[in-house]
Amino acid sequence: MVCYLRGVPRTPNGEDGEEPGLSPLPRPRSIRARYTVVAAVFSMVILTLLGVTLDLTIRYKVQADSFDQAERVASQWSAAARNGIVPHRMPAYPPVDLVQIVDSHMRVVDSSKAASDTVPLSTLRPPPDDRFQRRIECGEDHHCVMLMAIRLTPEADAGVVLAGLPEPSVLSTHRLEHIIAGGILLLVSVAAWTTWALVGRTLRPVEAIRARISEITVSDLSLRVPVPPGRDELAQLSITANQTLARLESAVRQQREFASTTSHELRSPLAGLRTQLEEALTYPDEVDPRETIRTALTAADRLEAIVNDLLVLARLRVTDAPPEPIDLGDLVSAEVKLQPHRLPMNVRATTGLMIRGSRMQLIRVLDNLMVNAQRHAESSVEITVEQDGDQAVVAVADDGPGVAPANRERIFERFVRLDDSRRRDPGGSGLGLAISRDIARAHHGTLRVEDSPKGARFVLRLPLGDRPDGSVHLHPARGALAPARKADGGTIGD
Ligand SMILES: Nc1ncnc2c1ncn2[C@@H]1O[C@H](COP(=O)(O)OP(=O)(O)OP(=O)(O)O)[C@@H](O)[C@H]1O
Ligand SMILES: [Mg+2]
Repeated sequence: MVCYLRGVPRTPNGEDGEEPGLSPLPRPRSIRARYTVVAAVFSMVILTLLGVTLDLTIRYKVQADSFDQAERVASQWSAAARNGIVPHRMPAYPPVDLVQIVDSHMRVVDSSKAASDTVPLSTLRPPPDDRFQRRIECGEDHHCVMLMAIRLTPEADAGVVLAGLPEPSVLSTHRLEHIIAGGILLLVSVAAWTTWALVGRTLRPVEAIRARISEITVSDLSLRVPVPPGRDELAQLSITANQTLARLESAVRQQREFASTTSHELRSPLAGLRTQLEEALTYPDEVDPRETIRTALTAADRLEAIVNDLLVLARLRVTDAPPEPIDLGDLVSAEVKLQPHRLPMNVRATTGLMIRGSRMQLIRVLDNLMVNAQRHAESSVEITVEQDGDQAVVAVADDGPGVAPANRERIFERFVRLDDSRRRDPGGSGLGLAISRDIARAHHGTLRVEDSPKGARFVLRLPLGDRPDGSVHLHPARGALAPARKADGGTIGD
């Protein structure tokens, strides 16, 4: 991985590309190394600035202190000299051990023991209007002396007191800089190591999560990523990842159940068909070929119904047709007219109840409710369309045997057909109500069996008008994948 000083050129597939004229800088791959480098560089810059400031401050302070000491001694002897009370071999006050009184001809009049009594320490001779002067004098051997010169009086032939001390090693060598540089390197190392350790510790759960995710396969979605203690971002990420894994596991389980239920449902009519045909072939004289063909056709009808409904279910999952405004009352009235029916269907529909959705899908719901009602009704079917608050309500009621409360939710599961219905129409697939509820949910509505004085009453509720976001999710709600059950109550594919 490389990066450039100006912008990172990237190819469409996200890989780094080449850009002529820019020099690539190596960039560490791992976040840990990147943070460590950033911390090291940052601390190096800050500490260098601090180190230079510290070095200059110390140098300035030591120099000022040294000159102050020299000035104090020079002042003392200057006062004594003016009063004429300077002893020969002037006593020194370490570290200011070089003291001389020099006359106007640069002759040494008096000196301390460490200073020469013939050669002046310096040619420095302050003018009358500036009696105090400082200087650093360096000899050929590179040893330097910090000198303070005080002119005794403003007169032309006035002597000068020179007081000096060897330049402190802090000023004369680079030891201070070396110590500061060493300290900076040490602190940068500590900062880099601390960052490396801290980022490593912070990212440890990420590595654990990565390792666990790499173990997870479609065949085993039961594993969960470890959740680090606390409620920080990583903990939240792990919790969300686990919730997603749980949903995936459940979706895959439901898909498997769906596949197994479907195979089971397809197998029964196929097995019946096969038996009939084998019998007809084995006992041609005993089996009525017309009867065999009729039974085979019934099985084929059932197979066709199941496959058609499965196709509808599959299409529901991918359809993304734009919703359109629909007058529900008009739609119901039109469908009743088109629907072939053996018993009268009485319609009471309020027109002008506008909803948004897929006309084709809503027709499928209405058709299924009407066919079911016709199948189970004794004498007639009542259909109403009316408004209830902000909902349009379609109720399809018949005067048949009704649906027992215990079965009112079950019949919306895939392939559930109650015994009575099998008897009345063996060709149904048991998918009609599952598809209808899917469609109702996709339209943000509901489809339920509600109480009725006689027979069954299916009630479809849909929100009136445009939704605030104008959306209709024309894909199945979660319930569409609920485990299917056999008509006798057992779950198919268990
Ligand atoms: N009006 C009704 N009265 C009594 N029972 C009903 C009524 N409508 C549906 N049911 C019951 O609910 C079951 C499921 O209905 P659904 O519409 O899902 O399947 P189906 O009508 O049997 O087959 P399909 O609609 O796929 O051709 C029916 O088999 C029947 O037992
Ligand atoms: Mg039906």
